[in-house]
Amino acid sequence: MLDLKTKTVGFVGGGNMAYAVAMGIVKAGLVDPGNVLVSNRSKGKLQMFSKEGIQVTQDNIEVFSKCDIIVLAVKPQALGKGSKIVRSLPNTPCLVGAGTIMISRGNNLTDDEYECVKVLLSSCAECFECPEKLLGPASSVMGCAPAYFFVAIESLADGGVMHGLPRDLALKLASRAVMGAGKLALESDKHPEQLKDAVASPGGTTIRGLYALEKAGFRSALIDAVNATTAKS
Ligand SMILES: NC(=O)c1ccc[n+]([C@@H]2O[C@H](COP(=O)([O-])OP(=O)(O)OC[C@H]3O[C@@H](n4cnc5c(N)ncnc54)[C@H](OP(=O)(O)O)[C@@H]3O)[C@@H](O)[C@H]2O)c1
Repeated sequence: MLDLKTKTVGFVGGGNMAYAVAMGIVKAGLVDPGNVLVSNRSKGKLQMFSKEGIQVTQDNIEVFSKCDIIVLAVKPQALGKGSKIVRSLPNTPCLVGAGTIMISRGNNLTDDEYECVKVLLSSCAECFECPEKLLGPASSVMGCAPAYFFVAIESLADGGVMHGLPRDLALKLASRAVMGAGKLALESDKHPEQLKDAVASPGGTTIRGLYALEKAGFRSALIDAVNATTAKS
């Protein structure tokens, strides 16, 4: 495996994604916080990085002149011709080592340079390569979806609270249900439909909940969300 301990990693833009990915690679022990440099337009956001021992600046040029690997973590923008670029789409669970990053290789990188980027990003996320044209729909499914599940967790917990569960416990139970279902779907060789059927026993409670969700348009609401975000990406 490539040793990245001697490399300096820079982030241009110090917002949510830069924080999730920077903290992900530091927590994974792949890069020392002192070897990470973040630049951001406004000063305030840099404090969350410096608290973690990460170097900060408001000068983007400093990042380009000092760092071996640079992550552009600003909103999408025009990039110069001939640049060595790997387009990447991360999600915020990178912060806890459970992220997903879609990557699309640009034309001008050597195999070693591309490998270096993949090793770095794989330290805090599962990386999937895809052609650039699929980054939009992929982003809808993995980049935006954590927000949908946060709403789902909050709503499930509200339901529990309505029936007497303490709020903290309800939030933990709902969060663990989402985490456990995702893990089971990833690790089992069964289709999600079979996993769902295994929970919904005949005449039981789960099938009533599923009926309520179907009546409310649960499936089409999720498909509509992917349509809406893909149209915007
Ligand atoms: N958040 C997510 O879950 C998520 C998921 C998938 C993909 N993405 C993608 O990740 C990228 C970054 O998103 P984000 O959520 O991290 O956005 P964000 O929180 O708004 O962060 C962007 C940061 O870039 C800074 N910035 C803007 N122009 C700059 C410049 N010229 N020089 C230095 N810093 C500059 C902004 O600083 P100021 O605030 O000081 O202006 C801001 O802190 C976007 O392309 C987004 O589509 C995000």
